[in-house]
Amino acid sequence: MKITVVGASGMMGSKIVRELERGGQSVSGASTKTGVNAYTGEGLQAALADTDVVIDVTNSGSFGDSDALDFFKQAGKNLLMAAKQAGVGHYLALSVVAADRLVENDYFRAKLVQENLIRASGLPYTIVRSAQFFEFFNGIINSAAEGDGFRLSPALVRPIAADEASTLISQIAIGLPHNDIVEIAGPEAVPLDQLAREILTVTEDTRSIAIDPDAPYFGVGLANATLLPGANALAGSLTFHDWLFRSLIAAQEGGG
Ligand SMILES: NC(=O)c1ccc[n+]([C@@H]2O[C@H](COP(=O)([O-])OP(=O)(O)OC[C@H]3O[C@@H](n4cnc5c(N)ncnc54)[C@H](OP(=O)(O)O)[C@@H]3O)[C@@H](O)[C@H]2O)c1
Repeated sequence: MKITVVGASGMMGSKIVRELERGGQSVSGASTKTGVNAYTGEGLQAALADTDVVIDVTNSGSFGDSDALDFFKQAGKNLLMAAKQAGVGHYLALSVVAADRLVENDYFRAKLVQENLIRASGLPYTIVRSAQFFEFFNGIINSAAEGDGFRLSPALVRPIAADEASTLISQIAIGLPHNDIVEIAGPEAVPLDQLAREILTVTEDTRSIAIDPDAPYFGVGLANATLLPGANALAGSLTFHDWLFRSLIAAQEGGG
């Protein structure tokens, strides 16, 4: 079975390639760095030749504007067409938990469009919607900066370590297509402001956090459970607290 990871040089792509290789799978990595451009279509046909499973972990260079929609629409169309030509038996794409509840934000709307293209393609597929990666939380906090501090919603999230997410994604990819959405998330639901407070504490950042149920998440208003996956989500086991602690130790040992 040949698995092609598109977006292989990225944060998730590189972890997934490593994980699959560790499991003895035949993996090929593609990204613009290897001459494969999902947006223009350049090199795609050759990259997907003889591929049984495609894992699409590409990402748009921009988060906050209509470029993301253009990217996921165009890259999605090109990837799906090339996958069809290659006779791919399982097309897996990585999306975001609650993408359908965050459509006021351009990026999440773009992810929903990407999902819809996959569903309409006729290819056997699995859409993996992941909760936020722990590694993404600095970005979440920074987006909530206001004045001298931060304004954050206490809405619940179930974030997951990117390492554990890549293990789950790799396992799903080598299985049969679900032809549906599969959600993955961390072991516990925690209020956004609490996670932010933990990060500020370990980074010795003394700025204050104002808890505000009306504080937007990337421009979108949240109810308490908006960001949570459903009850059937596959779960990692590492808590945010333990991950943060391990990251801190690793940074200290690395002289960081
Ligand atoms: N961050 C989160 O918390 C989170 C949660 C759930 C889901 N996701 C999803 O996970 C996916 C991957 O995220 P990530 O953080 O791993 O992204 P990333 O680190 O930014 O990596 C993106 C990858 O896409 C490749 N790429 C970009 N433009 C391309 C193009 N035109 N053609 C081919 N490859 C291209 C990049 O390769 P080059 O540099 O070589 O171009 C890179 O390998 C995204 O779709 C995101 O929506 C993220």
